[in-house]
Amino acid sequence: MKEDLIKVNNLKTYFYADEEVSKAVDNISFRIKKGETVCIVGESGCGKSVTSLSIMRLINEPGKIVSGEIIYDNKDLLKMRENDIRNIRGNEIAMIFQEPMTSLNPVFTIGQQLIEGIMEHTLISKKEANNKAIELINIVGLPRAEEIIKSYPHELSGGMLQRIMIAIALSCNPKLIIADEPTTALDVTIQAQILDLLRNIKAEYNTSILFITHDLGVVAEMADYVIVMYAGKIIEEAPVLELFKNPKHQYTMGLLKSKPIIGQRRERLYSIKGQVPDLSELKESCYFSDRCEKCMDICKTKMPKFISESNSHKTACWLYEEGVIYE
Ligand SMILES: Nc1ncnc2c1ncn2[C@@H]1O[C@H](COP(=O)(O)OP(=O)(O)O)[C@@H](O)[C@H]1O
Ligand SMILES: [Mg+2]
Repeated sequence: MKEDLIKVNNLKTYFYADEEVSKAVDNISFRIKKGETVCIVGESGCGKSVTSLSIMRLINEPGKIVSGEIIYDNKDLLKMRENDIRNIRGNEIAMIFQEPMTSLNPVFTIGQQLIEGIMEHTLISKKEANNKAIELINIVGLPRAEEIIKSYPHELSGGMLQRIMIAIALSCNPKLIIADEPTTALDVTIQAQILDLLRNIKAEYNTSILFITHDLGVVAEMADYVIVMYAGKIIEEAPVLELFKNPKHQYTMGLLKSKPIIGQRRERLYSIKGQVPDLSELKESCYFSDRCEKCMDICKTKMPKFISESNSHKTACWLYEEGVIYE
């Protein structure tokens, strides 16, 4: 059994506006084991990014982490002082975002930004940091590292910049990399290369990865374990093969049906009808009930419990509650 690296317990992160509260993340729990890739998947607006930003304690007004625990190395990240959390952010947990351009400073060279990151975390000379920067650029598969450190962000392509972001993330030897839709803005071929790179890094350094995506194709490539989020809740979770073979929740099935399959050209790709509800207007019910093809009366008035189909396969759906259909 692999050890847990991080455990999220009953996390709630809400956004406040006037009289309204948007429950962006509402009482979710999950764990990431050492050397494991956990994917969070769901449509836009389901709370995926808020989950990852909560782990990094990067939620700002009008958002607030209302309650819960995030246990890392026997400590609760949510109780740590700002200074200590900054240390964790730099050294233990690194984050890669969808738009590398917004994370890099346009007026500094790639080398300056990479070296600054390296020197912030280790006590080494500028020359050693420079060598380390070149080594990292090689590790992330970019040729002509000497030239790249002298370039400015706008001189590189999106794929190259994302590799630089990965190099910056690696500069602190993180135990966990959180990647929030890191390939969504890239061409398919470049996307495949970046996914490959992240997989190699995981294999080489036994890094854990929390990978956030709306794309089940990417999940199939990357995940060991999958968490499906809908309207701020986890509605299904399972090891990746189990989830693809034996999905339980109608939402997961819908996501799977909307995924193109190589070699099978369909007339038109399936799409789940309707949209994610407004998170400030949720009432007691299964939040997916309005869109569900198997909606029953109870689904409209009561939220289903999150139940275990097996130790690692869980879902929240009235179809599987005791006394009702159990497939
Ligand atoms: N800065 C913000 N201000 C107000 N509400 C926000 C903010 N960021 C996120 N939210 C709320 O949280 C929900 C989930 O957002 P997010 O986690 O970014 O979704 P996604 O799954 O697409 O990453 C949004 O639909 C919105 O209701
Ligand atoms: Mg997002």
